[in-house]
Amino acid sequence: KNNIVLVGGGSTWTPGILKAMTTHLNQFALNRVVLYDVDASRQEVIGEFAKILFKEEASDVEVVYTTDKEVAYKEVDFVFCQMRTGGFDMREKDEKIPLKHGAIGQETCGPGGFSYGLRSIRDMEEMVRDVRRLSPDAWILNYTNPAAIVALALDKIFPEENKILNICDQPVNLLRSYSKLIDYDVDKLEPVYFGLNHFGWFTHIYDAFGNDRAPELKEIISNGGFRPVDAEQRDQSWLDTYAMVEDMLHDFPDYLPNTYLQYYLYPEYKVKKLDPNWTRTDEVREGREKKVFAECRRIVENGTAKDSKVVHNDAHGDMMVEVAASIANNERRTFIVMVRNEGIIANLPDDSMVEVAASLGANGPHPYAVGHIDTFYKGLIENQHAFEKLTVEAYIEKSYTKALQALTLNRTVVDAKKARVILDELIEANKGYWPEL
Ligand code: G6P
Repeated sequence: KNNIVLVGGGSTWTPGILKAMTTHLNQFALNRVVLYDVDASRQEVIGEFAKILFKEEASDVEVVYTTDKEVAYKEVDFVFCQMRTGGFDMREKDEKIPLKHGAIGQETCGPGGFSYGLRSIRDMEEMVRDVRRLSPDAWILNYTNPAAIVALALDKIFPEENKILNICDQPVNLLRSYSKLIDYDVDKLEPVYFGLNHFGWFTHIYDAFGNDRAPELKEIISNGGFRPVDAEQRDQSWLDTYAMVEDMLHDFPDYLPNTYLQYYLYPEYKVKKLDPNWTRTDEVREGREKKVFAECRRIVENGTAKDSKVVHNDAHGDMMVEVAASIANNERRTFIVMVRNEGIIANLPDDSMVEVAASLGANGPHPYAVGHIDTFYKGLIENQHAFEKLTVEAYIEKSYTKALQALTLNRTVVDAKKARVILDELIEANKGYWPEL
């Protein structure tokens, strides 16, 4: 039975993950669940909710919540990490500062991702050191955003680590949505995927008979649009990002694109569509945030979670638990994960952190080779990798020049004067979070 800690325990995503844990106990047995957050008030609400949920669903599992990392990281088998350094207040700045200057404002793409990345690396580095001090053999499953930059930074800072797995739920969100479109069990779909995190493409989606369903999916999306499988639980802006897959397929029909590519392929169009005064942060703060906390408070007051419609398994939670199970039981199931390239995509730099399909077992991910990719994709990815690498180096070397180079390279910025204005404002906004560049 496993002892786990969930870092970012006060997140609005936590109830869904906890729910998934209770429904996967046969696959992933639990002894103790610790919720850890630096924000005591958020942690208390979700922590009290967790106690009720587990009392009702799995009373033999011990549930603890804490703001003390010495308690959190002690003798754990798995760390599920989904921290958000700076919370919503800083996310808002990541989104609004670039938009003020006519660049994409998004938490993982462009200058917003850059800004968030420089904040996340510091806390992630500290987390890995603390976990290794208190639980030397624990698996660290990392979902912290911006995942691409975090993954690359951790690979640079801890090159010998072989028990950190960086993974994102967006490929699985997409797969689930594809599976609905063709009415086919998602667990029987075998994807072939290449790229970087939030910057990749599905080339094939094989069914259980080895037939490639990607052509059919492209056809359906091109003729009828694309909606996420969990559309009724999502906000309008999320639906908008799915709708744009049709545009991407129209322009670049080779492969099924990750939704996040639209920020890089259509930066001018997207900037016009985004409202600099009402961004995703506002939407989430007014929507999911209020809903989840109100529901958890209600559950705590009533003492039961049985009647909750808000607390349900979601793709994110299911995936986190299934990934842990695949490692714990050496199941060797296929997941799309981030790994150091080293030849997987033959004509990309060895040190890039690529996102590809891998078989995942007790010894970690064994990625499937992708081979050579075509010029258009190679060009886009090399540019994006250079941005990611310079961002990480700017952090490590405290280099203003590298930070400016990174932003200038990013397809959502391009103009170096624009990059400098945004960078200077982000430096001000991130005082106390970033190293001094
Ligand atoms: C997707 C992305 C994640 C992102 C998440 C939440 O799952 O892959 O990177 O963190 O959505 O975004 P939201 O805007 O809803 O907080």
